[in-house]
Amino acid sequence: DEARANGASAFTFEEVEAGVDADHHVAAGYDADVLLRWGDPLFTDAPDFDPLKQSAESQAKQFGYNNDYVGFIPLEGSSDHGLLVVNHEYTNPHLMFPGIVTIAEGKVKQAPLTKEQVDIELAAHGGTIVEIRKDNGKWQVVRDGKLNRRVTVNTEMQLTGPAAGHDRLKTNADATGTKVFGTLNNCAGGVTPWGTYIMAEENIHGYFGGELPADHPEATNYKRLGIPEGSYEWSNFYDRFDVSKEPNEPNRFGWIVEVDVNDPNSLPKKRTALGRFKHEGAESIVAKDGRVVFYLGDDERFDYVYKFVTKGTFNPNDRAANMDLLDEGTLYVAKFAEDGSVEWLPLVHGEGPLTAANGFQSQADVVIEARRAGDLLGATKMDRPEDVQPNGTNGKVYVMLTNNTKRKEDQVDAANPRAENAFGHIIEIAEDGGDFTATRGTWEVLLKCGDPSVAEVGASFSTATTANGWFGMPDNCAIDAAGRLWVSTDGNSNKATGRTDGLWAVDTEGEARATSKLFYRVPVGAEMCGPLFTPNDETAFVAVQHPGDGGEDWDGFGRASYYEDPSTRWPDFKPDLPVRPSVVAITKQGGGKIAV
Ligand code: FEO
Ligand code: CA
Ligand code: CA
Ligand code: CA
Repeated sequence: DEARANGASAFTFEEVEAGVDADHHVAAGYDADVLLRWGDPLFTDAPDFDPLKQSAESQAKQFGYNNDYVGFIPLEGSSDHGLLVVNHEYTNPHLMFPGIVTIAEGKVKQAPLTKEQVDIELAAHGGTIVEIRKDNGKWQVVRDGKLNRRVTVNTEMQLTGPAAGHDRLKTNADATGTKVFGTLNNCAGGVTPWGTYIMAEENIHGYFGGELPADHPEATNYKRLGIPEGSYEWSNFYDRFDVSKEPNEPNRFGWIVEVDVNDPNSLPKKRTALGRFKHEGAESIVAKDGRVVFYLGDDERFDYVYKFVTKGTFNPNDRAANMDLLDEGTLYVAKFAEDGSVEWLPLVHGEGPLTAANGFQSQADVVIEARRAGDLLGATKMDRPEDVQPNGTNGKVYVMLTNNTKRKEDQVDAANPRAENAFGHIIEIAEDGGDFTATRGTWEVLLKCGDPSVAEVGASFSTATTANGWFGMPDNCAIDAAGRLWVSTDGNSNKATGRTDGLWAVDTEGEARATSKLFYRVPVGAEMCGPLFTPNDETAFVAVQHPGDGGEDWDGFGRASYYEDPSTRWPDFKPDLPVRPSVVAITKQGGGKIAV
């Protein structure tokens, strides 16, 4: 159109000024309303949040900690009434439990957690499914919603697909290798075309403590994932998180979890066909032939981009017929070539090097050790693949690569073009024939991120991008109903950038391509998760994760001050409340589509 021909951005809003303070900020003419805070009651019988009297029992009925993925599942096709599904990735005890942090002689010290505090952590992980409704232009939580549910580390789940029931998944508590409790570190996720909620299990290594003998059969497998890392204190109280006592438990985590939100008593399913690694998310799209394609990132330096293509096809008229589509299909790993082509290599037992000679006895072994299978196939080692998002409007796929400061000059390749990549980049894939199931495609770098005014950074934002518009560390992204790309970031809140994380609108089409504008920014210490647009583009949900964390880098925002100075404690700013991760609903004042 004419605007594009003139190089104008497809997004019409006045940019927010980049910067750092204790509050959040949205573009002029928009409201950013906090919808759900850590501890908010989700059921009629749930207690109000009281940080001094918090219990595991209360937490299991309240909104969890560190909201990350946000999905919206419309009820009866409505954009104003639906289920909000939210992942609770991890916990920050120093910000959750008043009094456990002391600062003496300039050193921050944290007291060991009690069992009750660990149990609160278990209940604060997982996910939330909650009915929400827009009344008079403002979103409300429906506390008596019949489908409201908390998923926690204690929720019973079922392992399905090629690894289910395998000996490597059996434990003292579960001789079947199919029954597991809970899900861990649910980062990004997805909503399937048939309306189920996907929770990706990402950094599972930190939850496991103890020691595994070097000659243990799982030693190589666990080393590849950094297990056990033991940053959580759960193994002090629960044997299943101690690898010396339950050496197979870590094989039951690192999967894609599917939750049927229509039945609050349904068993969430860990879909092993989609492989086991540090799953960032699982965004999907229905291909031309009806098969469904899930794009998967493995967030680790030098790890891979994957996709999963279902064997069966999506039936839009029969929800039940789709419920096990994720148990059969082909998992592929990406190889990005120097000539701008990409090849999707199948992780199929018996093909190529994926044989008994290399320790893969069956497809179960291939999915359990998907990373090692990818190593053997020669997949491209990427700069921390995060959210991977297909765009049904322009037929492309967007890969967020957040950063990789460990990449050396001699490890640079076309798809990871910068050594010591501190600010990350975004790759755009075009699958052959516009077919998302294709095993070949082409790609190009859409954006090299970072401050374009610093030549050494080598950023590639368009010259129309202002000093507010550039960003680093792309993490999550969303495509709105108009087919436009929005990118949220993780890691800008430090002295290197002088700005917080936020949500940026990024042009992908025409002369404005690679122009970016700042729409919303988070309070100090937070990262920006979500984002998600309702189907009518009138609401953007964003998740403000770990506000206040790491704030000690900033004068006046010291860690201890979150308990001493209420003026720094978003979003309540009250003396009796801590800083709280929260989901925010952004709407246009007076109504209407966002950025139009
Ligand atoms: Fe949880 Fe990869 O961010
Ligand atoms: Ca992420
Ligand atoms: Ca996304
Ligand atoms: Ca993140």
